[in-house]
Amino acid sequence: MTQVNQILLAERIQIGADLDAWMMEGGTRGLKAALAKPEQIIAAIRDADLRGLGGSGFPTWKKWKLLAAHPKDKRKYLIVNGNEDEPGTFKDEILLEKTPHQVIEGSIITALACNIDHIVFYINPELEEAIYAMNRAVEQWRNVVWIEEIEKALERKLSLQVMPSSGHYIGGEETAAIESVEGNFPFPRGKPPFPSEHGVYGYPTLVNNVETIAHVCHILANGAEWYRNIGVDQASGTKIYCVSGDVLKPGAYELPMGTSLRELIFDHGGGMLRGKEIKAVFTGGPSNTILTPRDLDVHLDFESVKARNSALGTGAMIVVSKGTGIVKRVTEYVNFFAASSCGQCPPCKTGTFYISQLLGRIDTGCGTRSDLESLINLCKILPGTGKCALLNGAVTVVRSSLDHFMEEYENSLNRTPLHISLDNNG
Ligand SMILES: Cc1cc2nc3c(=O)[nH]c(=O)nc-3n(C[C@H](O)[C@H](O)[C@H](O)COP(=O)(O)O)c2cc1C
Repeated sequence: MTQVNQILLAERIQIGADLDAWMMEGGTRGLKAALAKPEQIIAAIRDADLRGLGGSGFPTWKKWKLLAAHPKDKRKYLIVNGNEDEPGTFKDEILLEKTPHQVIEGSIITALACNIDHIVFYINPELEEAIYAMNRAVEQWRNVVWIEEIEKALERKLSLQVMPSSGHYIGGEETAAIESVEGNFPFPRGKPPFPSEHGVYGYPTLVNNVETIAHVCHILANGAEWYRNIGVDQASGTKIYCVSGDVLKPGAYELPMGTSLRELIFDHGGGMLRGKEIKAVFTGGPSNTILTPRDLDVHLDFESVKARNSALGTGAMIVVSKGTGIVKRVTEYVNFFAASSCGQCPPCKTGTFYISQLLGRIDTGCGTRSDLESLINLCKILPGTGKCALLNGAVTVVRSSLDHFMEEYENSLNRTPLHISLDNNG
């Protein structure tokens, strides 16, 4: 078993939501390092190879550099994305609720690196405890002398705001989050222009996931090399993996980035429920290619999972056992995506609706061969026709289930008994 190396969760949770306790345990060491050499923050994040942990795995420093390139006195926004509404993902909630100070410290270091003066903690309204903890923690930061020093370094006032999102899944998409912060319905915007050019009210905006931001203070406090050495092989740092489904110990586990799927499920997740055998794993929120028992030795980092034609996504692993109907499971996920589609792009709204209708028919034994063919065709023509990635995600999980479990689809066709008699006498 990999040595468990937690930097975000373990002791931080003991320290909890109190700023004094956080500082006594070494909190703000990263901030002090950042204040001493603000011009070196982005290089540290680059050398640490911190990636976007909201699903994309995009190198964090590249986005930061774009923000930093704007004039120092221009208004700029950081949205710390805690919308977290994807099935199977529950990591940001823990960070916000149990360890708000590392999220705040990370976001202030980010602001120093990119000359940002408006920080918005954008949180799913269902996470009431997280919103409470963040409000309380922000209040504590406002009252410390630190803020004066930070504002001196920024050469202007720093605004820290906790804002409940609208609660829609789509509101987590970065341009939708920008619309939401402006007070509008979270309709995603077309790109370009990218948020780094034209974000909240037209100002340059950086959107980063809560978990991405939570790593920042530790990288600054301990150095990029320390961070890189935590990951397995080429991977860097840690990842909070959310394990759910048919395992004995579902939960959020912070482990070295690159821990194997086998270790995650069978050591940390406690293994399969008694008498159950693993059949498949829906990864990264159920919007990626499905992993199967053949993939148990895959290292759960962005590159290794990509090499298996899937994606790490948010690091959520929903484990299903033999005996679970894949068609039913995929139908449930597509129903979620169909209900979550904002309706702005007709191919997304109608496409996810049709896919969910076809899946529903097939799953209940009423599907015909032509339904199955329509499903396969939709999976070919729909990708890339929506403004954001919601539609692609919905199609990916369906296509992957067709690739791996076509037999189940075939077996589900025309199962409805057609012995209907119109003759009352039998
Ligand atoms: C439909 C949809 C929902 C999303 N929801 C979230 C979310 O809840 N939280 C999040 O951080 N990113 C979410 N994303 C990804 C964001 O668009 C964006 O990539 C991310 O916030 C960037 O942060 P990162 O670079 O730190 O990962 C979502 C994307 C899509 C397409």
